[in-house]
Amino acid sequence: MSDRRDFMGMALGAFTGLGALGALYAAKRTWDPLPSIKAAGFTTIDVSKAEENVLYTEMWRGKPIFVLKLSKDAKPSDAPNGNNANAYDDKRLITINGHKFFIAIGLCTHLGCIPAYFPEEHKFKCACHGGEFNMAGEVLKSPPPSPLVIPPFTIEGQKLVLGESGPEYKKLLAAGVVA
Ligand code: FES
Repeated sequence: MSDRRDFMGMALGAFTGLGALGALYAAKRTWDPLPSIKAAGFTTIDVSKAEENVLYTEMWRGKPIFVLKLSKDAKPSDAPNGNNANAYDDKRLITINGHKFFIAIGLCTHLGCIPAYFPEEHKFKCACHGGEFNMAGEVLKSPPPSPLVIPPFTIEGQKLVLGESGPEYKKLLAAGVVA
């Protein structure tokens, strides 16, 4: 009986260990940055190797920047304004080499915590006070008062240059998506 209990204990331990490793691996992937170059306040991120529905985080001027390549079937039906049944129509998304991306400063607009991305739900959740954002950074659940902030950027081929207000960013400005 005790042998059986020992075996069960070992099996459970191994299973738990594997689970923890899996969680660590997922967390590491979340924080694995894409190849990037930093110079004079600009950060250039090569998004050519970005995987769909994996959140990449890069630092720019001391702030975390989220880069998320949307999956082909991304449809945030829980979009807050009810006007974007298809994620690909969202005006807060940008197109790089035919792929839709969401980029934002990774700080909750409530009190500045760093939200986590839940890929299976296609949502960002803030652990501090329960705020939630969809894949385009729009608020799904308060208390955040406003969407995640899109930093100034420009697109050069498959590279994203943070810190420069390129034509794509100016388009968002004109559309009132960024202030
Ligand atoms: S800081 Fe994110 S919900 Fe309060």
